[in-house]
Amino acid sequence: MAEPRGGIGGAGQVPVEQRFYGRRKGRPLGKTLQRLLVETLPLFHLDPDVSLADQFEHDPGDVFLEIGFGGGEHLAGLALAKPDAGFIGAEPFINGVATMLRHINEQDLKNVLLWDDDVRQVLPKLPDCCLAGAYIMFPDPWPKRRHAARRILNPAMMETLARLIRPKGMLMLASDDPTAKGWLLQAATAHPAFSWTARCPDDWRNRPTDIPETRYMRKAHSEARTPSWFRFERMC
Ligand SMILES: C[S@@+](CC[C@H](N)C(=O)[O-])C[C@H]1O[C@@H](n2cnc3c(N)ncnc32)[C@H](O)[C@@H]1O
Repeated sequence: MAEPRGGIGGAGQVPVEQRFYGRRKGRPLGKTLQRLLVETLPLFHLDPDVSLADQFEHDPGDVFLEIGFGGGEHLAGLALAKPDAGFIGAEPFINGVATMLRHINEQDLKNVLLWDDDVRQVLPKLPDCCLAGAYIMFPDPWPKRRHAARRILNPAMMETLARLIRPKGMLMLASDDPTAKGWLLQAATAHPAFSWTARCPDDWRNRPTDIPETRYMRKAHSEARTPSWFRFERMC
């Protein structure tokens, strides 16, 4: 990752009805994390106007997207486990982006591109069938009905994912929140291009072996919040 790629954040305009409702900033960042944002983020910043193949150090056969990677533990785990694949992570919470950059540094990851803003700004610019898969892990649950419009997975997002994920590609959804499990499943099963791969309860009760375990997952278990894992396949 030698050349800086574009500035930080903000390519497209997101319509008012799609405003981002999460936090952009948390606790003040220490000097190291601030430096990572200034010096390292530009090296890994996704430029939606440049082809993906030209942005990864190697031409990855498979490119995966994680929407809302939080502190990036899961995304970094995937990138480490599959060095030949490429990973795009989107996360507007700047403290999370800084933590992800620390994972990149510590684990010397070369196969990650980051979008430090609302994922919906960048998705329209990605080409059809460019993804081998996408992950939405433990999204903000927005349990109240009046906040349903804020949920990240909705018919519009499913439509976009159907365009971006190639046939036989996968969509992985996970949550430990009962309401979110319901709306994730509802949105994904309602889309005709996706098929739920579960054949028995263990398929959604047990963490898939290719999903890296994170501190959040361990905490959820220790607090008796049981995650569910919903894997969908993009039909031909
Ligand atoms: C509950 S956190 C989960 C974080 C992480 N996936 C995990 O498992 O720990 C949900 C994350 O989604 C991010 N998020 C919410 N809306 C988003 C959007 N439109 N684009 C990208 N990320 C978004 C939030 O900033 C937040 O970090």
